[in-house]
Amino acid sequence: MFRRLPESLLNAAPAVTVYIDGRPFVARAGDSVAAAVLASGRAACRTTAVSGSPRGPFCLMGACFDCLVVIDGRANQQGCLVPVVEGMEVETQRGARDSGLRHAGRPDGEQRSAQREDRQDGPRT
Ligand code: FES
Repeated sequence: MFRRLPESLLNAAPAVTVYIDGRPFVARAGDSVAAAVLASGRAACRTTAVSGSPRGPFCLMGACFDCLVVIDGRANQQGCLVPVVEGMEVETQRGARDSGLRHAGRPDGEQRSAQREDRQDGPRT
């Protein structure tokens, strides 16, 4: 279904190492997380809440939500809308969504508080 661009075009973009479920993968600058997951040979980003069935990126444009992953400890990230960044940690999202941080060591309340403060500060120049 999906295939990468020819290597000659890919090699023009700088390499970016990300960790997908703990394993290093060399993506290319400009790749989305979902594209990197697919290019790594994985078909699934998440599992469903009820049956645990695997789901993988489908639309690659933010409509289907089948690309939800945990990125750097934040659950429910749409992998197709997030570009890879050097050292990024991507994890398969298993089961039901949660709204909090899983690994960053900050409870939800602190995250929401920080987001609120960002909004109250207004746009940064
Ligand atoms: S692949 Fe459909 S929302 Fe990301």
